[in-house]
Amino acid sequence: MPREWDAKTYDSLPLPHLGWGRRTLGRLPLAGDERVLDAGCGTGRDTAGLLDLLPRGRVVALDGSVRMLEQLRERLAGRLDRVEVVHADLTRPLPFDGEVDAVFSVAAFHWIADHAALFTSLAGRLRPGGRLVSECGGRGNIAAVNAAVADVLGGAPDVWDFAGVEDTRRQLTDAGFTGIEVGLRPDPARFESGDQLESYLATVVLGAHLDGMAGDDREPFVKAVAARLAEPVVDYVRLEIAATRA
Ligand SMILES: C[S@@+](CC[C@H](N)C(=O)[O-])C[C@H]1O[C@@H](n2cnc3c(N)ncnc32)[C@H](O)[C@@H]1O
Repeated sequence: MPREWDAKTYDSLPLPHLGWGRRTLGRLPLAGDERVLDAGCGTGRDTAGLLDLLPRGRVVALDGSVRMLEQLRERLAGRLDRVEVVHADLTRPLPFDGEVDAVFSVAAFHWIADHAALFTSLAGRLRPGGRLVSECGGRGNIAAVNAAVADVLGGAPDVWDFAGVEDTRRQLTDAGFTGIEVGLRPDPARFESGDQLESYLATVVLGAHLDGMAGDDREPFVKAVAARLAEPVVDYVRLEIAATRA
C-alpha cells in the first residue's frame, strides 16, 4: 500500500491544493446525478465539493492512506450516505462494484510511479464516454526544492518522476482514452513565513524523504532544505489532464 500521511497536520496547513481543487472541479462537467471517483481523495476537501455538485449523485472516495480516510470520515460526517469510502492502491484493480461516470483527482498522481498502470486501472472502472479530469505535479515541478534536497543529501533519492505532456498523452491513449487534453501550468506557492514553509515541506513535500530518516535527523533536514530556497516559495508546475474513456 502507499505511504501513510499526517492527515490532521495536512488539514491545518495553508494548502495550495484548495485552489487546485477548485480549478479542477471547474473543469469537470456534471449533470448532478453521476457517480464520480475521487482518486487519491485525501481528507475529502474536494469530495465535499463534488457532493455539492452532485445533489442526486454519489462519490467513491478512494485513497491509500488510512489516516487520510479517517479524517475524510470526520469531515463528511452526516453526508456519508452518498460516499463510498475505499482504502486501495490506485495502481491495482480497483475494489469497488460497477463503473463510475467520471474520475476526478487532485495532487495525487505524481505520488504514483507507474502511470501506465494507473491509467489502465482507472479506465477499467470508468464507463465508456466518461470523463477523467485531474491535476498533479508535472515535468519541472519543484525543481528548486529538489535541487535543495540534492544539495543537502549529496544526491536526491528518486521520490518522483514528474510526467510530461507527450508521455502522458501516449499512456492515456494506450490505456483506452480519447479526446485527450494535457498541459503544464507553472503555479508557484508562496508561504507567509519560514516556519509555515518548513511545516508545509515536512508534511506535504518531504514526507516520503522523512519516512526513511531517523527521528533526530528530520527537523534539521527540513530546515536545511528550506534555508537553501531563495524565498518561501515552492515552485510548483501542475500537469492538467482531461480525457474521455473511449
Ligand atoms: C497530496 S495528497 C492530495 C489529497 C487530496 N486530493 C487533496 O488535494 O488534498 C496525495 C494523496 O494521494 C494518495 N495516494 C498516493 N499514492 C496513492 C496510491 N497509489 N493509491 C491511492 N492513493 C494514493 C495519498 O495517500 C494522499 O492522500
